Amino acid sequence: MTNESNVSALFERQFEVADGNISGLGLPKFNRYTICNLRGGIGKTSLTFNLSYLADDALIIDTCPQGNLSYFFDNNYVSSTSVTVNDLLMPYFVPGLGFATRAAKKISSTNACFSGKNNYFIQSDNQLYVLPTQMANALSQARTITGSTQQTVIDNILYSLKTEIDREMSETKATKALIDTSPFFSGATHLAWHASDALIVPVRTDQQSINSLRLLIDTLTKPSSEFRKIMPSNGHTPKIQMVVITHCGWSTVAGARNKPNQQTKMYIEAVREVIRQNISNFTTDDPNNHIVILDDFLGSGRMSSAKSKPLELLNPGDAMTVNRVRTSVNLSVNKIKNELKFIHNSIW
Ligand SMILES: Nc1ncnc2c1ncn2[C@@H]1O[C@H](COP(=O)(O)OP(=O)(O)OP(=O)(O)O)[C@@H](O)[C@H]1O
Ligand SMILES: [Mg+2]
Repeated sequence: MTNESNVSALFERQFEVADGNISGLGLPKFNRYTICNLRGGIGKTSLTFNLSYLADDALIIDTCPQGNLSYFFDNNYVSSTSVTVNDLLMPYFVPGLGFATRAAKKISSTNACFSGKNNYFIQSDNQLYVLPTQMANALSQARTITGSTQQTVIDNILYSLKTEIDREMSETKATKALIDTSPFFSGATHLAWHASDALIVPVRTDQQSINSLRLLIDTLTKPSSEFRKIMPSNGHTPKIQMVVITHCGWSTVAGARNKPNQQTKMYIEAVREVIRQNISNFTTDDPNNHIVILDDFLGSGRMSSAKSKPLELLNPGDAMTVNRVRTSVNLSVNKIKNELKFIHNSIW
C-alpha cells in the first residue's frame, strides 16, 4: 500500500472511532507514560488533563514549570505550600538536603470534577525553570568521580524522578502514572523519559510540530544527543506508544462527513512518513498503530480550560462566557469524547 492509501485507512478507522465503535488499538500496554513534544501550545497539558480524568488509580505528575496542569487540578495552586516535584528532586542534586516525603495529593480534594476518582497528582513548581542548570552541574560533578561509583551516582541522578514516582505510586496504591512536560528537553523532561516506559507525543497540524517530532526522535536516538550523551547503566530508552495529531479539522463540504480538510490530510501524511522511517523507536512495527487523530476542541476546549472541567463532563448545548466571549459546546464534543476514550483504551 502507498503512504496515501495507508493514510486513507486511518481516516476510515477514524469514522468508527468517532462513533465509539472501536474500543482501542491492540498495542502493548505500559504503566508509566510521559506526554511530550519539544514544542509549546500543541496540546500536551489538555491531553494529560483529559486522560487523567478517564484513568483510575493514577498518579499524575506536572513537570512543566508553567504549572498549567497543576492549576487545572487546584485553582489555588500558585499559593499552595504543598510539596512539589522540585522538592522531591532537589536532594538528588544538592548534597545534604533531606529527602521530601509524600507529595501526591488526591485530585478530588481540590477539583470537585474528580470526586469519586482515586487519582492523585504531584504539583509543579516554578523553580523547575532552573533545574536544567542544577542537573547539568550535578552530572558534570559526577563525571569527575573515578572508578565504578561514577555510574552509580549518574544512575541515581537520571533515575531521581523515577525513584520518587515509584515511591509515591506505592504509597498511593496507584497503578498508572502520567507525566506532563514542558516544551524543553533539559531538566525535568529528560528525567521524565527515564521515569517512563513509553512516550505519547502530541503533534499539531503544522510544519513546526512535524519538525519537533523529528527533533524528538533525534534526541531519543542520536548518540550525540543530550539524552544519549550520559545514559544510565542499563541504557533505558522509552519507545513511542503513539503520536496524537491534535487540532484536526474536517471538510465542511456538504455530504463530506469525516473527510479531513487539506491541512489535516497533508500533515497526517507527513507524520506517517516520519513514523515509517523511524519505526524501530515505536512499540510495534506498523505505523498506522501509532497515529491517533484528535479533533480541534474549539469552544469545548475553551470552556474545559476556563472551568478546569474534563471534556468528558461537557455536553452539547453547555454555554458560558469566557473572556467576554460567549462560548458554547457543540455536537462535536461527543466525537471528541470518543476519540479521547480510544486513546485511553490504547494505552492502559
Ligand atoms: N485536539 C486538541 N488537543 C489538544 N488541545 C487542543 C485541541 N484542540 C484545541 N486545543 C486547544 O489548544 C490549546 C493547547 O494548549 P495546551 O496548554 O494543552 O498545550 P501545551 O502543549 O501543554 O502547551 P505548553 O507547551 O505551553 O505547556 C488548549 O487551549 C486546547 O483547548
Ligand atoms: Mg502544557
